[in-house]
Amino acid sequence: MRVLVVNGPNLDRLGSREPEVYGSTTLTELSQKIDGWAGSLGLEAEHFQSNSEGALIDAIHESDHDAIIVNPGALTHTSRSLADALASVEAPVVEVHISNVREREEWRRHSVLDGVANYTIYGRGLVGYHHALRHVVNRLATPFQTVSYGPHRDNIGDLRKGGSGLVVLVHGGFWRHEWTRDTMESLAVDLAERGYNTWNIEYRRIGTGGGWPGSAHDVLTALEFIPRLDLDVVSATVIGHSAGGYLSIWAGERAISSAGKIIALAPVTDLTLHSGSDSFGADEALILLDGGAPELLQPDTVPVISFHGSEDELVPAEHSTRLPASHELVTGGHFELLDPGREQWRRILEEFERS
Ligand code: DQA
Repeated sequence: MRVLVVNGPNLDRLGSREPEVYGSTTLTELSQKIDGWAGSLGLEAEHFQSNSEGALIDAIHESDHDAIIVNPGALTHTSRSLADALASVEAPVVEVHISNVREREEWRRHSVLDGVANYTIYGRGLVGYHHALRHVVNRLATPFQTVSYGPHRDNIGDLRKGGSGLVVLVHGGFWRHEWTRDTMESLAVDLAERGYNTWNIEYRRIGTGGGWPGSAHDVLTALEFIPRLDLDVVSATVIGHSAGGYLSIWAGERAISSAGKIIALAPVTDLTLHSGSDSFGADEALILLDGGAPELLQPDTVPVISFHGSEDELVPAEHSTRLPASHELVTGGHFELLDPGREQWRRILEEFERS
């Protein structure tokens, strides 16, 4: 599969341009990284950068690629003609921004690609391009439909149907808005390819109306929506990662008729422990505590099993050992659990298939 990676105005200045915002990697170095990531995903990346709107539009018109990944620079916020060009192509479009455009100047919050891009990744630094490539692979791997379970634009989930049972996936990211459901997508695709129905849900996060109780209520609402998914299932397995593990355990306990079993991957379970750490997400744990979220999860109605990487530095394994539920320590860190190509996933699958 061939992917066109388009970078717009001023992205040729990466490396020297506002390094405190964009880092010190040059565009050439970034393109090399993208080639490496693409290669490991079985993709071929072709690159195009221009400071001129017309040249970007021409490159998009001429593209015969399977997908387009685009960082339009400041044209994101102004260029209707670029948006029209992207709307005119059949290939899926993934919009990427290196910086956290929603936490900078007000005018950067709006993107003319809203409603045109099939998926948007921002605020994750350069690795956002890697995630965009991974999303392309997963997006094209198995068909899915995006189903709304509530009134907010984040009340959606990608449903991969055609199999048996149901696995609901709940992503992590310390309840922060720049982390979205693409992080669980490789597992959703792997499970779908193994013959299971999967629903990879989004929910409101801190910055999009979530936090406490919004994020948790959304996950609960999604679980209670299961009977309306038109699947022949009475209960689902819920797989939640990290902060999504916290939400899964909280909501899964309350939506008793819908959650048969909860598999928590590197879950945050103790907000006091996390808010007192110097780890990423400590401030967000405090926001949840201030909102009234339970300090320590105490599941007792739905079976919970957690898997935790013994070398996890983001959410230490103590979160799982403190949880009054079965837990298993596996090798590796925080994100290895989300890679279906790894040994850890085979062990998690064994546990899942035992139920
Ligand atoms: C950017 C964000 C835009 O607002 C800005 O004009 C850029 C880069 C990013 O990658 O973060 O040029 O798209």
